[in-house]
Amino acid sequence: MSHAEDHEGNRRDFLYYATAGAGTVAVGAAVWPLIDQMNPSADVQALSSIRVDVSGVEVGTQISVKFLGKPIFIRRRTEEEIAEGRAVDVSTLPDPIARNANIAGQVPATDENRTMDEAGEWLLQWGVCTHLGCVPLGDGAGDFHGWFCPCHGSHYDTAGRIRKGPAPENLPIPVAEFLDETTIQLG
Ligand code: FES
Repeated sequence: MSHAEDHEGNRRDFLYYATAGAGTVAVGAAVWPLIDQMNPSADVQALSSIRVDVSGVEVGTQISVKFLGKPIFIRRRTEEEIAEGRAVDVSTLPDPIARNANIAGQVPATDENRTMDEAGEWLLQWGVCTHLGCVPLGDGAGDFHGWFCPCHGSHYDTAGRIRKGPAPENLPIPVAEFLDETTIQLG
């Protein structure tokens, strides 16, 4: 490449980026007054909580919903998954803390302390690997039949607890509650 071509290329790149940058600023300026006019508390509420209809979630399946920009896994566990999760001795876990935002303090990572309901059928968790943030694979994946993160090989069990691999913590459980039998509120 000649000097002249190189110079031309750089100039074109510069013009491209300058234009893209101006576009971004213009969009930002146009959107802000709209947000600004909304009632702030209604705006914050809309962003910080959503309702999910789980009536179509069969036993042994899960859905993934996006909340605050990240996936949340909502799994309806089978009898076998519940039994497997409950049979684990918490003292053997790499992370013995429940990591459940719905329970105050650092309670043990028993299966019961991680599920939504007493029967242990519903398990909700952020679908973000606690190692470096990849989205783990579900539906019984990995050596412990829960979730598996292929990025660096982290295995989570049927209660979303880390069992093997570099992830330091169990999958975190978001603030959530059942509003009725088939509606879950997140946040
Ligand atoms: S990000 Fe999941 S194992 Fe590294």
